[in-house]
Amino acid sequence: MSDKSARLIIGNKEIELPIHTPTAGPDVIDITKLYAQGDVFTYDPGFTSTAACDSTITFIDGAKGELLHRGYPIDQLAEKSHFLEVCYLLLYGELPSATELEDFEARVTNHTMVHEQMHNFFRGFRRDAHPMATLVGVVGAMSAFYHDSTDINDDWQREVAAIRLIAKLPTIAAMAYKYSVGQPFVYPRNDLDYAANFLHMCFSVPAENYEVDPILARAMDRIFTLHADHEQNASTSTVRLASSSGANPFACIAAGIACLWGPAHGGANQACLEMLKEIGTVDRIPEFIARAKDKDDNYRLMGFGHRVYKNFDPRATVMKQSADEVLELLGVEDNPLLQVAMELEKQALADPYFAEKKLFPNVDFYSGIILEAMGFPTSMFTPIFALARTVGWISQWKEQISDPNLKIGRPRQLYTGATRRDYTDIESR
Ligand code: CMC
Repeated sequence: MSDKSARLIIGNKEIELPIHTPTAGPDVIDITKLYAQGDVFTYDPGFTSTAACDSTITFIDGAKGELLHRGYPIDQLAEKSHFLEVCYLLLYGELPSATELEDFEARVTNHTMVHEQMHNFFRGFRRDAHPMATLVGVVGAMSAFYHDSTDINDDWQREVAAIRLIAKLPTIAAMAYKYSVGQPFVYPRNDLDYAANFLHMCFSVPAENYEVDPILARAMDRIFTLHADHEQNASTSTVRLASSSGANPFACIAAGIACLWGPAHGGANQACLEMLKEIGTVDRIPEFIARAKDKDDNYRLMGFGHRVYKNFDPRATVMKQSADEVLELLGVEDNPLLQVAMELEKQALADPYFAEKKLFPNVDFYSGIILEAMGFPTSMFTPIFALARTVGWISQWKEQISDPNLKIGRPRQLYTGATRRDYTDIESR
């Protein structure tokens, strides 16, 4: 508890509100007793000025363009670490020793297969279902297949649920993809690392030998690492709100996946690539920039802007390097989409509208180009984001339910509807 406080004067009443000082970021005024003391609510749609929880996992300095997981900068993790090590860091708070990492990797690898009956469950979806629709449904259904890890009051079950989710999401996402293209499901291979195994499950077929290219596996791993967690974004807040009622972990993560799907959030990677395709050629870029700037047109440049980053998105910088590496490997440096993307970035950054509003390319701007070059259809972009973000969601979920003072999330409202009135019979209306 801090010794600083703020004073709020409402009419002739003065209310003292404690101020908490975080280890990084702005001070936070504690308004938890405000309603009891002042009979008022605060109003902040979109949570633009509201800290909804305290957390030790991820910190973003939007002005500096910095993202830290447990204190470690994302660019260092992307360069020197790998996804499963970052998972360990997010879940347990520290980088693992060699033995701890080996043990963690063995535990995740041991859970990569899904219950065989889930194959039948998949077959209930329409063949052309969007893989995100399948993912929301199947992850929610995990609570039906894995009852023995749904008791949130049991530490061991929480741990097993976390490992199961991290281990099985690639399998389920790959199955969603295989189902949508009419190919047989591919079982995981536990001799491959996390990212290589995902590529294997997506791209191998029984009729042919498929060798995972280590450069592509590394790029895939980097995409997972860059998406692993991102503080209290919309889907993470959804997971926390769902979890505050005591819902089981699989239900909470399904809720997070549903929220992620929207084009303002994780769905932006699909929307961004579709936008680049729609623009098509560099000469059409000014037309699209003009639309994004037009107050009477609600069109936005997908992959631009961020609620928190007002300088640049550090994930986008690393993603851009990865895009260069992958396109060079695949011999598609002349990719027309990349040319449109590079020119769009250049023109938008030089435009006063984007500069004034601090709109920079975000992580979704480059990820789609890499994923498309790897052979993924656009419909798989958001499921890939979801599988990578699962560790962030589950870490935040674990942190929240370990808090002995956890309260159900229950926002209040500024009611602007009709006041009390009497029911009128239908004949009299
Ligand atoms: N293109 C054109 N104008 C934009 C854009 C854009 N992409 N983004 C924001 N603006 C304008 C917006 O019109 C508003 O202008 P004004 O002040 O004149 O009304 C101003 O910038 C502020 O926008 P906002 O909607 O109030 O900002 P926000 O913090 O609520 O929204 C955002 C953040 C990410 C939803 C938004 O920038 C956006 O819709 N971007 C495109 C979608 C996107 O790329 N999303 C991925 C985000 S990163 C990955 C993730 O989190 O999942």
